[in-house]
Amino acid sequence: MKKILITGGAGFIGSHVVRRFVTTYPEYHIFNLDALTYAGNLENLRDIENSANYTFVKGDIVDAVFLDELFSEHDFYGVIHLAAESHVDRSITDPMAFVMTNVIGTANLLNAAKKSWKDNLAEHLFYHVSTDEVYGELHDPNEFFLETTKYDPRSPYSASKASSDHLVRAYHNTYKMPVVISNCSNNYGPNHFPEKLIPLMINNILNNKPLPVYGKGENIRDWLFVEDHARAIDVIFHKGKNGETYNIGGHNEWKNIDLVKLLCQIMDEKLNRPEGTSARLIHYVTDRAGHDLRYAIDATKLKTELGWVPSLQFAEGLEKTVNWYLANQEWLDNITSGAYSHYYEEMYDGR
Ligand code: NAD
Ligand code: TYD
Repeated sequence: MKKILITGGAGFIGSHVVRRFVTTYPEYHIFNLDALTYAGNLENLRDIENSANYTFVKGDIVDAVFLDELFSEHDFYGVIHLAAESHVDRSITDPMAFVMTNVIGTANLLNAAKKSWKDNLAEHLFYHVSTDEVYGELHDPNEFFLETTKYDPRSPYSASKASSDHLVRAYHNTYKMPVVISNCSNNYGPNHFPEKLIPLMINNILNNKPLPVYGKGENIRDWLFVEDHARAIDVIFHKGKNGETYNIGGHNEWKNIDLVKLLCQIMDEKLNRPEGTSARLIHYVTDRAGHDLRYAIDATKLKTELGWVPSLQFAEGLEKTVNWYLANQEWLDNITSGAYSHYYEEMYDGR
């Protein structure tokens, strides 16, 4: 059985990747390494937690000694690295947490893998999951991020992810570590932590709370259903070319305000509220510092070289997402009743 280490598997995207690998590949043993920060939630994996080919390991990638021990205990064939601090707003208030996990943590993981794989490095694979935010922001509506676009990170989050991408490429170039990197656009779907735009709006609509739209709501994001991202990771892990980068995106750009209005409409229908009820909760608040205007991915390389295209239209994906949150209000309540409620007050009070 090939052992595969997935980091950050208790988080939003990681949990979908873990589920996909555990259920699709009984010939792999999946180890999910996660520190269970505020964003990690083992409830996300309740349906597969007893699978014979799945093991959860609680641990912090900032702890190099722990990683060395883990890699000496197990001969991992490959690593799929998703563990990260992932929220731009938090990176503005606490950049060092992002440097620690995203930069130091990734370096520690690379070092542990390099030491453990030294006798047959070429037979292993380090897959680094990254973001389109490393490319900076776009202004010209005809421009898209390509794999060759120059890095221009503009938030502490994107700068820390860019650093980690550079480290992964450096280990490939210098030590010949087999690597692949993917840079994906904004994900949405079940299990998305309600600090991010779509689940935050769903949660606030449910609770009749104001819907905080940053600035004028004109920033644009390219949204991809999370299971499509997990499938892209599967394809790249198995068919990606050593040393290559692949952009992943939905070709699905939305201005924030239009997206929030669409969500309001869907939620009014689902909750049998008169049309326009939720939209009245929209509340423009102080803009995010250094707010990137537009992200948009050109995923042609992934399509032409590896045959991946998104499977879901946005309307369908959003419908699935809203239905999931409505059916899983306990999941939301468990998150929003704890420390998250303090974060919310601090982040949004006085905005
Ligand atoms: P998330 O915040 O939901 O989950 C991150 C997970 O990593 C959590 O389970 C957390 O407990 C774990 N973690 C954090 N610090 C750790 C540490 N020091 N040691 C071990 N585990 C730790 O994030 P997500 O949205 O699922 O993103 C996963 C990855 O995908 C990240 O690398 C992110 O940069 C990337 N990405 C995210 C998006 C998006 O839209 N969410 C888009 C493109 C790329
Ligand atoms: P977010 O989900 O935090 O993802 P990212 O910043 O990584 O793109 O935010 C998506 C967009 O929504 C971004 O332009 C910021 C905006 N936004 C709001 O307008 N209000 C909010 O409460 C949040 C969380 C985000």
